[in-house]
Amino acid sequence: MTSAKEHDDRPIGVFDSGIGGLTVMSELTRQLPRESIVYLGDTARVPYGDKSSDTIIRYALEDASFLEKCNVKLIIAACNTVSAVALGELKKKISVPVCGVIEAGAASASGIRGTVAVIGTKTTISSGAYWQEIKRISPYTDVECIACPLLVPLAEEGIKSWNILGGVFDIYLGKYLANMPQALLLGCTHYPLFTEEFDRFFSGKVKIISSASAAAEYVKKLINSGDVLANSGRKTPEYRFCVTDTTEKFLSSASRFFGDRISSAEQVTITNSEQL
Ligand code: DGL
Repeated sequence: MTSAKEHDDRPIGVFDSGIGGLTVMSELTRQLPRESIVYLGDTARVPYGDKSSDTIIRYALEDASFLEKCNVKLIIAACNTVSAVALGELKKKISVPVCGVIEAGAASASGIRGTVAVIGTKTTISSGAYWQEIKRISPYTDVECIACPLLVPLAEEGIKSWNILGGVFDIYLGKYLANMPQALLLGCTHYPLFTEEFDRFFSGKVKIISSASAAAEYVKKLINSGDVLANSGRKTPEYRFCVTDTTEKFLSSASRFFGDRISSAEQVTITNSEQL
């Protein structure tokens, strides 16, 4: 018989600058189907990836404080940019456990012999967080990091045209067509939206690693090990979607992942205007 203490029916909180964290949430719903989730997309301030560390830390603390007030049991910073520069501050200032996505993403690349090309936002790449973490766990892996700032706006706009994407990939990754890396690590949670297109660019010859699915696997381990208590499963899981700007564009992107499981999103205010 299980006691009440073995379960925690509070939701998991997930946040990102926009729709990118939905790639993490979608994996979480697949791997942990009993868990309820509150998602926050800071769509009013996306993109984060070209902002200064101080600004990203401020935004991330506001995002996480909002989720904390939603009574979540764990917060996932489903944003590599936040994970790269703000995780320490979040862990210090937020009262529930917070995990990022870089450790899990880097762990998936460990042990790869040859080159791992890591792509991410300007801030993620210039932070050196991926390079350091992969080298720490897998010193012989050759790590090359490339900032791809045009990809987040394309993902947010839902652009799938190969004429556009092929050209943009060529700018950032064209040099690899003659000498392919062993793996391409998608170090931004928006990029899994282009997994098929990356595969097409490299003619299926490069292993594509997603920090989004790696992060969901990491959370599953936390729950299976009891470090975070699992939902009792007594009720159907609830998914709540919150955004800081208008909901229409978000809803059409989110429905690509969640179909009819998402019918509405709430527009929320997360900043205290008196502090601005
Ligand atoms: N999806 C986020 C990441 O993983 C942020 C993208 C952005 O807002 O620039 O880095």
